[in-house]
Amino acid sequence: MSKVRKVFICSSCGAQSPKWTGKCPSCGEWNTYQEEVLQRDTSAEPGRNAWKSGTPHEILPQPIALPDIQSNDTPRLVTSDDELNRVLGGGIVRGSLVLIGGQPGIGKSTLLLQLALQLNAKVIYVSGEESEEQIKMRADRLGGNPSQCYILTETNATRICTIAIDFQPDLIIADSIQTLSVPYLDAMPGSISQIRECAGEFQRFAKSTHIPVFLIGHITKDGTLAGPKLLEHIVDTVLQFEGEQQYTYRILRTLKNRFGSTDEMGIYEMQAGGLRQVSNPSELLLSQHEETLSGSAVAATQEGMRPMLIETQALVSKAVYGTPQRSATGFDLRRLSMLLAVLEKRGGLPFGQRDVFLNIAGGIRVDDPGIDLAIVAALISSLEDVPIPQKSCFVGEVGLSGEIRAVNRIEQRIQEADRLGFETIYLSKYNLKGLDTQRFGIKIHSFGRLEELYTVLFT
Ligand code: TYD
Ligand code: MG
Repeated sequence: MSKVRKVFICSSCGAQSPKWTGKCPSCGEWNTYQEEVLQRDTSAEPGRNAWKSGTPHEILPQPIALPDIQSNDTPRLVTSDDELNRVLGGGIVRGSLVLIGGQPGIGKSTLLLQLALQLNAKVIYVSGEESEEQIKMRADRLGGNPSQCYILTETNATRICTIAIDFQPDLIIADSIQTLSVPYLDAMPGSISQIRECAGEFQRFAKSTHIPVFLIGHITKDGTLAGPKLLEHIVDTVLQFEGEQQYTYRILRTLKNRFGSTDEMGIYEMQAGGLRQVSNPSELLLSQHEETLSGSAVAATQEGMRPMLIETQALVSKAVYGTPQRSATGFDLRRLSMLLAVLEKRGGLPFGQRDVFLNIAGGIRVDDPGIDLAIVAALISSLEDVPIPQKSCFVGEVGLSGEIRAVNRIEQRIQEADRLGFETIYLSKYNLKGLDTQRFGIKIHSFGRLEELYTVLFT
Protein backbone atom coordinates (compact mmCIF):
# COMPACT_ATOMS: atom_id res chain seq x y z
CA MET A 1 0.00 0.00 0.00
CA SER A 2 1.36 3.38 -0.73
CA LYS A 3 0.32 6.65 0.77
CA VAL A 4 0.26 9.79 -1.35
CA ARG A 5 0.77 13.04 0.48
CA LYS A 6 1.17 16.54 -0.84
CA VAL A 7 3.47 18.95 0.91
CA PHE A 8 5.16 22.22 0.17
CA ILE A 9 8.96 22.24 0.32
CA CYS A 10 11.24 25.26 0.44
CA SER A 11 13.60 25.07 -2.54
CA SER A 12 16.24 26.99 -0.68
CA CYS A 13 16.57 25.10 2.59
CA GLY A 14 14.30 22.08 2.23
CA ALA A 15 11.90 22.94 5.06
CA GLN A 16 8.43 21.39 4.72
CA SER A 17 5.05 22.87 5.32
CA PRO A 18 1.53 21.46 4.81
CA LYS A 19 0.43 24.73 3.16
CA TRP A 20 1.98 27.31 0.91
CA THR A 21 3.81 30.15 2.64
CA GLY A 22 5.23 33.29 1.07
CA LYS A 23 8.25 33.56 3.31
CA CYS A 24 10.08 30.50 4.53
CA PRO A 25 10.03 30.57 8.36
CA SER A 26 13.18 28.46 8.40
CA CYS A 27 15.59 30.31 6.09
CA GLY A 28 13.74 33.58 5.55
CA GLU A 29 13.75 33.36 1.72
CA TRP A 30 10.69 34.63 -0.16
CA ASN A 31 8.61 32.71 -2.65
CA THR A 32 10.56 29.47 -2.48
CA TYR A 33 7.79 27.01 -1.56
CA GLN A 34 6.92 24.44 -4.22
CA GLU A 35 4.30 21.75 -4.11
CA GLU A 36 5.66 18.21 -4.11
CA VAL A 37 4.00 14.82 -4.05
CA LEU A 38 5.47 12.50 -1.49
CA GLN A 39 4.85 8.83 -2.01
CA ARG A 40 5.53 6.50 0.82
CA ASP A 41 5.42 2.74 0.62
CA THR A 42 4.03 1.64 3.96
CA SER A 43 3.61 -2.08 3.21
CA ALA A 44 7.14 -2.99 4.23
CA GLU A 45 7.19 -0.88 7.34
CA PRO A 46 6.86 -2.53 10.72
CA GLY A 47 4.25 -1.06 13.01
CA ARG A 48 4.79 1.27 15.90
CA ASN A 49 6.69 -0.25 18.85
CA ALA A 50 7.65 -3.29 16.76
CA TRP A 51 10.93 -3.48 18.63
CA LYS A 52 9.02 -4.21 21.86
CA SER A 53 7.17 -7.29 20.78
CA GLY A 54 10.25 -9.46 20.45
CA THR A 55 8.91 -11.01 17.25
CA PRO A 56 11.62 -12.49 15.02
CA HIS A 57 12.66 -10.04 12.36
CA GLU A 58 14.97 -10.05 9.40
CA ILE A 59 18.74 -10.15 9.95
CA LEU A 60 19.79 -6.72 11.11
CA PRO A 61 23.24 -5.15 10.81
CA GLN A 62 25.27 -5.31 13.98
CA PRO A 63 27.33 -2.41 15.38
CA ILE A 64 31.04 -2.89 14.66
CA ALA A 65 33.82 -1.96 17.07
CA LEU A 66 35.92 0.85 15.65
CA PRO A 67 39.25 -1.10 15.58
CA ASP A 68 37.59 -3.85 13.53
CA ILE A 69 36.69 -1.49 10.71
CA GLN A 70 39.06 -1.65 7.76
CA SER A 71 40.30 1.83 7.04
CA ASN A 72 40.05 2.86 3.46
CA ASP A 73 43.47 4.38 2.96
CA THR A 74 43.64 4.11 -0.80
CA PRO A 75 45.51 7.08 -2.19
CA ARG A 76 43.53 10.02 -3.45
CA LEU A 77 43.13 10.61 -7.14
CA VAL A 78 45.49 13.52 -7.65
CA THR A 79 44.56 15.68 -10.60
CA SER A 80 46.84 17.89 -12.66
CA ASP A 81 44.84 20.88 -11.45
CA ASP A 82 46.64 22.11 -8.33
CA GLU A 83 43.87 24.55 -7.44
CA LEU A 84 41.27 21.78 -7.45
CA ASN A 85 43.54 19.41 -5.49
CA ARG A 86 44.04 22.05 -2.84
CA VAL A 87 40.35 22.87 -2.57
CA LEU A 88 39.50 19.18 -2.21
CA GLY A 89 42.11 18.78 0.53
CA GLY A 90 44.73 16.99 -1.57
CA GLY A 91 42.96 15.28 -4.46
CA ILE A 92 39.75 13.32 -5.04
CA VAL A 93 38.87 10.86 -2.27
CA ARG A 94 37.65 7.45 -3.50
CA GLY A 95 33.94 6.98 -2.99
CA SER A 96 33.31 10.62 -2.28
CA LEU A 97 30.36 12.63 -3.53
CA VAL A 98 31.28 16.20 -4.46
CA LEU A 99 28.82 18.92 -5.38
CA ILE A 100 29.93 21.93 -7.42
CA GLY A 101 27.43 24.75 -7.30
CA GLY A 102 27.41 27.98 -9.23
CA GLN A 103 25.34 30.30 -11.35
CA PRO A 104 24.63 29.29 -14.95
CA GLY A 105 27.42 30.27 -17.33
CA ILE A 106 30.08 30.65 -14.70
CA GLY A 107 32.14 27.73 -16.05
CA LYS A 108 31.20 24.61 -14.08
CA SER A 109 30.92 22.38 -17.15
CA THR A 110 34.21 23.76 -18.47
CA LEU A 111 36.00 23.10 -15.19
CA LEU A 112 34.86 19.50 -14.93
CA LEU A 113 35.23 18.63 -18.60
CA GLN A 114 38.75 19.99 -18.35
CA LEU A 115 39.29 17.75 -15.31
CA ALA A 116 37.99 14.75 -17.26
CA LEU A 117 40.37 15.52 -20.13
CA GLN A 118 43.42 16.06 -17.95
CA LEU A 119 42.93 13.23 -15.50
CA ASN A 120 44.88 10.17 -16.46
CA ALA A 121 41.98 7.88 -15.64
CA LYS A 122 38.74 6.55 -17.07
CA VAL A 123 36.03 9.18 -16.64
CA ILE A 124 32.35 9.11 -17.55
CA TYR A 125 31.00 12.60 -18.20
CA VAL A 126 27.22 12.41 -17.99
CA SER A 127 25.48 15.28 -19.66
CA GLY A 128 21.79 15.99 -19.46
CA GLU A 129 22.25 19.46 -20.89
CA GLU A 130 24.40 19.19 -23.98
CA SER A 131 24.62 16.74 -26.86
CA GLU A 132 27.68 14.59 -27.56
CA GLU A 133 28.60 16.86 -30.47
CA GLN A 134 28.44 19.98 -28.35
CA ILE A 135 30.68 18.40 -25.73
CA LYS A 136 33.08 17.21 -28.40
CA MET A 137 33.35 20.76 -29.77
CA ARG A 138 34.06 22.09 -26.32
CA ALA A 139 36.58 19.33 -25.59
CA ASP A 140 38.44 20.09 -28.84
CA ARG A 141 38.79 23.68 -27.70
CA LEU A 142 40.03 22.67 -24.26
CA GLY A 143 42.72 20.29 -25.47
CA GLY A 144 44.11 17.57 -23.22
CA ASN A 145 43.90 13.84 -23.58
CA PRO A 146 40.43 12.74 -24.71
CA SER A 147 41.15 8.99 -25.02
CA GLN A 148 39.88 8.07 -21.55
CA CYS A 149 36.99 10.49 -21.41
CA TYR A 150 33.61 8.88 -22.14
CA ILE A 151 30.46 10.89 -22.75
CA LEU A 152 27.04 9.63 -21.73
CA THR A 153 23.88 11.54 -22.54
CA GLU A 154 21.42 9.97 -20.15
CA THR A 155 19.15 11.52 -17.58
CA ASN A 156 17.93 8.49 -15.67
CA ALA A 157 20.07 8.31 -12.52
CA THR A 158 19.36 4.63 -11.88
CA ARG A 159 20.42 3.73 -15.42
CA ILE A 160 23.56 5.86 -15.10
CA CYS A 161 24.57 3.91 -12.00
CA THR A 162 23.79 0.59 -13.69
CA ILE A 163 25.87 1.53 -16.73
CA ALA A 164 28.71 2.68 -14.50
CA ILE A 165 28.77 -0.57 -12.51
CA ASP A 166 29.59 -2.46 -15.73
CA PHE A 167 31.89 0.19 -17.11
CA GLN A 168 33.94 0.65 -13.91
CA PRO A 169 35.20 4.20 -14.45
CA ASP A 170 37.56 5.94 -12.02
CA LEU A 171 35.32 8.99 -11.82
CA ILE A 172 31.80 10.02 -12.76
CA ILE A 173 30.81 13.60 -13.50
CA ALA A 174 27.08 14.37 -13.65
CA ASP A 175 26.17 17.61 -15.41
CA SER A 176 23.79 18.67 -13.97
CA ILE A 177 21.81 17.26 -11.02
CA GLN A 178 18.84 19.40 -12.08
CA THR A 179 18.45 17.46 -15.34
CA LEU A 180 18.54 13.99 -13.79
CA SER A 181 15.65 11.97 -12.44
CA VAL A 182 14.77 8.55 -11.09
CA PRO A 183 11.83 6.74 -12.73
CA TYR A 184 10.16 5.64 -9.51
CA LEU A 185 9.32 9.18 -8.43
CA ASP A 186 6.42 10.93 -10.06
CA ALA A 187 8.01 14.38 -10.18
CA MET A 188 9.71 16.54 -12.77
CA PRO A 189 13.52 16.60 -13.15
CA GLY A 190 14.78 19.58 -11.21
CA SER A 191 12.09 19.31 -8.56
CA ILE A 192 13.18 19.06 -4.98
CA SER A 193 12.23 15.42 -4.49
CA GLN A 194 14.00 14.36 -7.72
CA ILE A 195 17.16 16.27 -6.87
CA ARG A 196 17.25 14.80 -3.41
CA GLU A 197 16.52 11.27 -4.63
CA CYS A 198 19.13 11.40 -7.44
CA ALA A 199 21.76 12.69 -5.05
CA GLY A 200 20.85 9.90 -2.64
CA GLU A 201 21.19 7.35 -5.45
CA PHE A 202 24.66 8.63 -6.33
CA GLN A 203 25.65 8.69 -2.70
CA ARG A 204 24.77 5.02 -2.24
CA PHE A 205 26.52 4.26 -5.53
CA ALA A 206 29.71 6.10 -4.56
CA LYS A 207 29.85 4.54 -1.10
CA SER A 208 29.32 0.98 -2.32
CA THR A 209 31.56 1.08 -5.42
CA HIS A 210 34.21 3.53 -4.14
CA ILE A 211 33.91 5.41 -7.42
CA PRO A 212 33.92 9.16 -6.74
CA VAL A 213 31.07 11.19 -8.21
CA PHE A 214 31.01 14.91 -9.02
CA LEU A 215 27.60 16.54 -9.26
CA ILE A 216 27.07 19.91 -10.90
CA GLY A 217 24.27 22.02 -9.45
CA HIS A 218 22.96 25.34 -10.71
CA ILE A 219 22.00 28.02 -8.29
CA THR A 220 20.17 31.11 -9.34
CA LYS A 221 20.28 34.49 -7.71
CA ASP A 222 16.58 34.51 -6.89
CA GLY A 223 16.61 30.91 -5.68
CA THR A 224 13.64 29.85 -7.81
CA LEU A 225 15.36 26.63 -8.84
CA ALA A 226 15.92 23.98 -6.21
CA GLY A 227 19.30 25.00 -4.91
CA PRO A 228 22.26 22.84 -3.96
CA LYS A 229 21.60 23.93 -0.39
CA LEU A 230 19.21 21.03 -0.17
CA LEU A 231 22.01 18.60 -0.86
CA GLU A 232 24.60 19.94 1.51
CA HIS A 233 24.01 17.26 4.11
CA ILE A 234 23.91 14.40 1.58
CA VAL A 235 27.21 15.09 -0.14
CA ASP A 236 30.72 14.91 1.33
CA THR A 237 32.08 18.08 -0.19
CA VAL A 238 30.41 21.24 -1.44
CA LEU A 239 32.38 23.53 -3.70
CA GLN A 240 31.18 26.83 -5.03
CA PHE A 241 32.36 28.28 -8.30
CA GLU A 242 31.89 32.01 -8.41
CA GLY A 243 32.93 35.22 -10.07
CA GLU A 244 31.49 38.17 -11.92
CA GLN A 245 30.34 37.24 -15.41
CA GLN A 246 31.93 40.35 -16.93
CA TYR A 247 35.34 39.55 -15.47
CA THR A 248 37.52 36.61 -16.30
CA TYR A 249 38.49 35.55 -12.79
CA ARG A 250 36.73 32.64 -11.14
CA ILE A 251 37.08 31.45 -7.58
CA LEU A 252 36.48 27.92 -6.40
CA ARG A 253 35.65 27.87 -2.69
CA THR A 254 35.06 25.00 -0.30
CA LEU A 255 31.84 25.41 1.65
CA LYS A 256 31.95 21.98 3.25
CA ASN A 257 34.55 19.24 3.18
CA ARG A 258 34.50 15.98 5.08
CA PHE A 259 38.08 15.29 3.96
CA GLY A 260 39.86 18.59 4.40
CA SER A 261 39.77 22.19 5.45
CA THR A 262 37.14 24.65 4.27
CA ASP A 263 39.68 27.45 4.33
CA GLU A 264 41.04 26.73 0.89
CA MET A 265 40.24 28.36 -2.40
CA GLY A 266 41.40 28.13 -5.99
CA ILE A 267 41.64 30.90 -8.54
CA TYR A 268 41.17 30.48 -12.27
CA GLU A 269 41.09 32.71 -15.26
CA MET A 270 38.59 32.00 -18.04
CA GLN A 271 40.34 32.14 -21.38
CA ALA A 272 39.43 31.21 -24.93
CA GLY A 273 41.01 27.79 -24.41
CA GLY A 274 39.32 27.10 -21.07
CA LEU A 275 40.18 27.77 -17.47
CA ARG A 276 43.76 28.52 -16.53
CA GLN A 277 45.03 28.08 -12.98
CA VAL A 278 46.23 31.29 -11.39
CA SER A 279 48.99 30.31 -9.02
CA ASN A 280 50.21 33.80 -8.31
CA PRO A 281 47.11 35.98 -7.96
CA SER A 282 48.73 39.11 -6.54
CA GLU A 283 50.64 39.91 -9.68
CA LEU A 284 47.42 39.94 -11.69
CA LEU A 285 45.19 41.74 -9.24
CA LEU A 286 47.38 44.80 -8.90
CA SER A 287 46.87 47.28 -11.67
CA GLN A 288 49.82 48.23 -13.66
CA HIS A 289 49.39 52.00 -13.82
CA GLU A 290 52.52 54.01 -13.26
CA GLU A 291 51.22 57.32 -11.97
CA THR A 292 49.62 57.69 -8.55
CA LEU A 293 45.87 58.14 -8.71
CA SER A 294 43.52 59.17 -5.96
CA GLY A 295 40.93 56.68 -4.77
CA SER A 296 43.08 53.63 -5.14
CA ALA A 297 44.64 51.58 -2.33
CA VAL A 298 46.19 48.13 -2.17
CA ALA A 299 45.00 45.66 0.45
CA ALA A 300 47.13 42.84 1.85
CA THR A 301 44.30 40.35 2.14
CA GLN A 302 44.11 36.69 2.53
CA GLU A 303 41.88 34.25 0.72
CA GLY A 304 41.85 30.77 2.13
CA MET A 305 45.36 30.16 3.34
CA ARG A 306 46.95 32.33 0.67
CA PRO A 307 48.03 35.91 1.20
CA MET A 308 47.09 38.05 -1.76
CA LEU A 309 47.57 41.69 -2.62
CA ILE A 310 44.62 43.20 -4.34
CA GLU A 311 43.77 46.68 -5.49
CA THR A 312 40.65 48.44 -4.23
CA GLN A 313 39.27 51.49 -6.00
CA ALA A 314 36.77 54.02 -4.76
CA LEU A 315 35.06 56.90 -6.46
CA VAL A 316 33.36 59.48 -4.27
CA SER A 317 31.47 62.25 -6.00
CA LYS A 318 28.73 64.74 -5.24
CA ALA A 319 25.33 63.05 -5.28
CA VAL A 320 23.44 63.95 -8.43
CA TYR A 321 20.07 62.77 -7.19
CA GLY A 322 18.51 63.35 -3.79
CA THR A 323 19.44 59.94 -2.45
CA PRO A 324 23.16 59.22 -2.67
CA GLN A 325 24.02 56.07 -4.57
CA ARG A 326 26.18 53.34 -3.18
CA SER A 327 27.50 50.55 -5.34
CA ALA A 328 30.10 47.88 -4.65
CA THR A 329 31.63 45.17 -6.84
CA GLY A 330 33.31 42.37 -4.95
CA PHE A 331 32.47 43.79 -1.53
CA ASP A 332 29.46 43.53 0.75
CA LEU A 333 27.32 46.64 0.32
CA ARG A 334 26.19 46.59 3.94
CA ARG A 335 29.77 46.54 5.12
CA LEU A 336 30.52 49.51 2.84
CA SER A 337 27.62 51.42 4.42
CA MET A 338 28.99 50.55 7.83
CA LEU A 339 32.47 51.87 6.94
CA LEU A 340 30.96 55.07 5.52
CA ALA A 341 28.93 55.55 8.70
CA VAL A 342 32.07 55.11 10.81
CA LEU A 343 33.95 57.67 8.70
CA GLU A 344 31.07 60.13 8.93
CA LYS A 345 30.39 59.72 12.63
CA ARG A 346 33.90 59.21 14.02
CA GLY A 347 35.90 61.19 11.51
CA GLY A 348 33.37 63.86 10.57
CA LEU A 349 33.94 63.21 6.87
CA PRO A 350 30.99 64.27 4.67
CA PHE A 351 30.10 60.99 2.95
CA GLY A 352 26.38 61.37 3.65
CA GLN A 353 25.71 63.51 0.57
CA ARG A 354 28.09 61.74 -1.82
CA ASP A 355 27.70 58.95 -4.33
CA VAL A 356 30.14 56.17 -3.51
CA PHE A 357 31.31 53.49 -5.93
CA LEU A 358 33.66 50.76 -4.86
CA ASN A 359 35.44 48.20 -6.96
CA ILE A 360 37.71 45.31 -6.06
CA ALA A 361 40.12 44.43 -8.87
CA GLY A 362 39.17 41.46 -11.02
CA GLY A 363 35.62 41.32 -9.67
CA ILE A 364 36.83 38.99 -6.95
CA ARG A 365 34.62 38.82 -3.90
CA VAL A 366 36.67 39.30 -0.76
CA ASP A 367 35.35 38.12 2.61
CA ASP A 368 38.48 38.88 4.60
CA PRO A 369 37.76 41.68 7.13
CA GLY A 370 41.41 42.74 6.78
CA ILE A 371 40.49 44.54 3.55
CA ASP A 372 38.59 47.26 5.51
CA LEU A 373 41.58 49.51 6.04
CA ALA A 374 42.44 49.63 2.34
CA ILE A 375 38.83 50.44 1.49
CA VAL A 376 38.72 53.22 4.05
CA ALA A 377 42.00 54.61 2.68
CA ALA A 378 40.67 54.47 -0.90
CA LEU A 379 37.45 56.22 0.15
CA ILE A 380 39.22 59.07 1.95
CA SER A 381 41.75 59.37 -0.85
CA SER A 382 38.97 59.84 -3.39
CA LEU A 383 37.01 62.22 -1.16
CA GLU A 384 40.04 64.41 -0.52
CA ASP A 385 41.47 63.83 -3.99
CA VAL A 386 44.84 63.04 -2.47
CA PRO A 387 46.63 60.01 -3.90
CA ILE A 388 48.09 57.40 -1.60
CA PRO A 389 51.88 57.06 -1.87
CA GLN A 390 52.97 54.43 -4.34
CA LYS A 391 54.19 51.03 -3.17
CA SER A 392 52.18 51.15 0.03
CA CYS A 393 49.53 48.71 1.17
CA PHE A 394 47.03 48.32 4.01
CA VAL A 395 45.71 45.62 6.27
CA GLY A 396 43.34 45.85 9.22
CA GLU A 397 39.75 45.46 10.26
CA VAL A 398 37.85 48.64 11.08
CA GLY A 399 35.66 48.54 14.18
CA LEU A 400 32.48 50.52 14.84
CA SER A 401 34.22 53.10 16.99
CA GLY A 402 36.90 53.76 14.38
CA GLU A 403 39.53 51.52 15.92
CA ILE A 404 41.85 49.51 13.69
CA ARG A 405 41.76 45.89 14.77
CA ALA A 406 44.29 43.12 14.41
CA VAL A 407 43.93 40.46 11.68
CA ASN A 408 45.09 36.86 11.49
CA ARG A 409 48.23 35.53 9.74
CA ILE A 410 49.85 38.95 9.69
CA GLU A 411 53.36 37.60 9.01
CA GLN A 412 52.32 35.89 5.79
CA ARG A 413 50.64 39.08 4.61
CA ILE A 414 53.68 41.23 5.36
CA GLN A 415 55.95 38.71 3.69
CA GLU A 416 53.84 38.68 0.55
CA ALA A 417 53.83 42.50 0.39
CA ASP A 418 57.58 42.48 0.93
CA ARG A 419 58.09 39.88 -1.76
CA LEU A 420 56.10 41.92 -4.27
CA GLY A 421 58.28 44.96 -3.71
CA PHE A 422 55.99 47.11 -1.55
CA GLU A 423 57.84 49.66 0.55
CA THR A 424 55.33 50.50 3.29
CA ILE A 425 52.57 48.57 4.99
CA TYR A 426 49.97 50.20 7.24
CA LEU A 427 48.48 47.94 9.87
CA SER A 428 46.94 47.78 13.33
CA LYS A 429 49.23 48.37 16.29
CA TYR A 430 47.53 45.42 18.00
CA ASN A 431 49.12 43.20 15.38
CA LEU A 432 52.65 44.11 16.48
CA LYS A 433 52.60 41.91 19.56
CA GLY A 434 55.21 39.17 19.16
CA LEU A 435 56.08 40.36 15.66
CA ASP A 436 59.72 40.78 14.80
CA THR A 437 59.47 43.85 12.58
CA GLN A 438 63.21 43.88 11.86
CA ARG A 439 62.86 40.67 9.86
CA PHE A 440 61.13 42.40 6.99
CA GLY A 441 62.61 44.81 4.49
CA ILE A 442 59.27 46.61 4.21
CA LYS A 443 58.57 49.62 6.44
CA ILE A 444 55.80 48.96 8.96
CA HIS A 445 53.49 51.78 10.09
CA SER A 446 51.08 50.89 12.84
CA PHE A 447 47.97 52.69 14.09
CA GLY A 448 45.33 52.20 16.72
CA ARG A 449 42.67 54.53 15.29
CA LEU A 450 41.53 55.86 11.92
CA GLU A 451 42.28 59.47 12.94
CA GLU A 452 46.00 58.66 13.19
CA LEU A 453 45.95 57.14 9.70
CA TYR A 454 44.16 60.24 8.38
CA THR A 455 46.77 62.54 9.90
CA VAL A 456 49.68 60.62 8.41
CA LEU A 457 48.28 60.19 4.91
CA PHE A 458 46.01 63.12 4.19
CA THR A 459 47.17 66.16 6.14
P1 TYD B 1 30.09 26.74 -18.92
O1 TYD B 1 31.14 25.82 -18.46
O2 TYD B 1 29.17 26.27 -19.98
O3 TYD B 1 29.22 27.27 -17.68
P2 TYD B 1 28.22 26.46 -16.73
O4 TYD B 1 28.38 25.03 -16.97
O5 TYD B 1 28.61 26.91 -15.34
O6 TYD B 1 26.84 26.95 -17.06
O7 TYD B 1 30.86 28.06 -19.37
C1 TYD B 1 30.18 29.09 -19.91
C2 TYD B 1 31.03 30.25 -20.32
O8 TYD B 1 32.40 30.03 -20.39
C3 TYD B 1 30.58 30.65 -21.67
O9 TYD B 1 29.91 31.87 -21.54
C4 TYD B 1 31.80 30.78 -22.49
C5 TYD B 1 32.93 30.64 -21.56
N1 TYD B 1 34.03 29.83 -22.11
C6 TYD B 1 35.23 30.45 -22.43
O10 TYD B 1 35.39 31.67 -22.28
N2 TYD B 1 36.26 29.69 -22.91
C7 TYD B 1 36.14 28.35 -23.10
O11 TYD B 1 37.09 27.70 -23.54
C8 TYD B 1 34.90 27.74 -22.77
C9 TYD B 1 34.70 26.27 -22.95
C10 TYD B 1 33.87 28.51 -22.25
MG1 MG C 1 26.99 23.72 -17.90
